[in-house]
Amino acid sequence: MKIIIINGPNLNLLGKREPEVYGSTSFEDYFATLQSKFPQVELHYFQSNIEGELIGKLQDVGFEYDGIILNAAAYTHTSVGIGDAVKAIDTPVVEVHISNTHQREAYRHVSYISPGAKGVILGFGLQSYDLAIQSFLG
Ligand code: DQA
Repeated sequence: MKIIIINGPNLNLLGKREPEVYGSTSFEDYFATLQSKFPQVELHYFQSNIEGELIGKLQDVGFEYDGIILNAAAYTHTSVGIGDAVKAIDTPVVEVHISNTHQREAYRHVSYISPGAKGVILGFGLQSYDLAIQSFLG
């Protein structure tokens, strides 16, 4: 099974960025943990701060991979383009957020990703990614 985690803007700063909200572990360290936890999964990772690069990656993998785990970060709440890309591709997308966005500012309660997503997992810290992988394994 081939799964990719796609992370959007500012998630390259995990571990340093607002640790009270997002924790103190870098995504690189957590990704290594995920790889050792799911050896049966061919797990890939892509991060970009640029909307068009995220859309390009969704198009590149979206007809080939078995699953996409997408944390579009701030673009979740603004990007019609990423939302459209999620709907355009064949590969199922699970939307993930580290924080419980519904407990935060009102502008974080809207998602342009959810209408095209297979499901949404949020609020479990980095473990949200773990749960998303498990959702693909059934
Ligand atoms: C986030 C929540 C978004 O509102 C925020 O802009 C992020 C991270 C999360 O994983 O909790 O950058 O997607």
